[in-house]
Amino acid sequence: MSSMGLPLLLLLLAPPLWPFSLPPPDTPEGKATITGLILSVLEKATSFLKKRLPEINLDGVVGFRVLEAHLRGVQEEWAQDPQLQPLSLRMGTLQRKLAPLLHRSIVYLKLSDPEYLREFQPTTQPGFWKLPHVWTHINASMVYPTLEPQDSFSEEQSDMCLVQLLGTRTDGSQPCRLSDFCRTLMTKLGCSGYCLSHQLLFFLIARMKGCTRGLFHQSQRYMNLFCAKMMDLNRRAEAIGYAYPTRDIFMENIMFCGIGGFSDFYQLQWLEAILSWQKPQEGCFGRPDAEDEKLPKDIHHQQHYRIREKRREKQFADGCSSHNTATAVAALGGFLYALVQYPLANGELRQATPVPPTATDMNGSTPAIHQEDKTQAFGPSF
Ligand SMILES: *[C@@H]1O[C@H](CO)[C@@H](O)[C@H](O)[C@H]1NC(C)=O
Ligand SMILES: *[C@@H]1O[C@H](CO)[C@@H](O)[C@H](O)[C@H]1NC(C)=O
Repeated sequence: MSSMGLPLLLLLLAPPLWPFSLPPPDTPEGKATITGLILSVLEKATSFLKKRLPEINLDGVVGFRVLEAHLRGVQEEWAQDPQLQPLSLRMGTLQRKLAPLLHRSIVYLKLSDPEYLREFQPTTQPGFWKLPHVWTHINASMVYPTLEPQDSFSEEQSDMCLVQLLGTRTDGSQPCRLSDFCRTLMTKLGCSGYCLSHQLLFFLIARMKGCTRGLFHQSQRYMNLFCAKMMDLNRRAEAIGYAYPTRDIFMENIMFCGIGGFSDFYQLQWLEAILSWQKPQEGCFGRPDAEDEKLPKDIHHQQHYRIREKRREKQFADGCSSHNTATAVAALGGFLYALVQYPLANGELRQATPVPPTATDMNGSTPAIHQEDKTQAFGPSF
């Protein structure tokens, strides 16, 4: 309860983003209200998926698959509680709607992008994404400085390393393999944006595949490092009013670090923001209409969120984005799962920011970049 104090306080101080404020999740009624709101958004997003099925890309399928995993996890938790049955039934309905849609979507991908699908097929399968059973916290003193430029990290290289890890190359390779090149790429410090989220994704997928040897012996250590940085970046995104180009990576960070078990990413005011981004007409997430687009207060910030041309990104004419929608539903699914588990028996599922925002944050201007060079202390020697 007391741990909810900070975000609620921030909520009161912040300008309203949404016609209503979410109730605190510490009563059954509050939980039910928030769950109902999230479900409404997810139901609409699923209708969008259904309407645009042939156009949804692989990232889109993965996002909805992660949502499916969360829905299943929530239902397992709620099966026993008769009070929550109506919501549980609604989740079951959504889950049963999703499964055949995703199956059909994969059939479309097989036709449109067979090579890419084959390489990433495991991540699109039911049961691949496993939810955290233990929650952990960000250690804010692990935040390392961003190094520019980051053009040594390309989506092609990152994909190649993921394929190696998944063991889906055509040469009959085994999962959990790692070249020196990929080890260096996936453990170098200094990344931000998608370079960073893909580094975390690499270790997440290794966890899903059960890779534990060699470098993967240290998976948790790298996940701690990367998610500390991702938390810092998300707080900066919040500080600049979630300018549109930052929203996609903001939600991707919640999606990945949430599955990684970092409960700090499930902050009430972030949930409120994400819920407000759905396009009411289409049910998708994507480029906001011009009038509600907030300009970043500080152009310097954008450097942290440079959105690369995402090779497989699908931007529809109406501003809907397959990738944006995928990260949104996956993140929202995580909020459902965190909410259901709140509060954990040991009271560990905090929704407070691990580090109180500095006064500068409160002013909404640029928080100082952490200058201490932590690279020496944590960096692999290369
Ligand atoms: C956080 O990280 C710092 C720097 O590595 C370390 O000294 C400290 O013990 C860590 N704190 C926790 C709670 O793990
Ligand atoms: C907040 O902004 C005001 C006006 O720019 C400034 O005077 C004040 O020092 C800032 N507060 C802090 C604590 O940085």
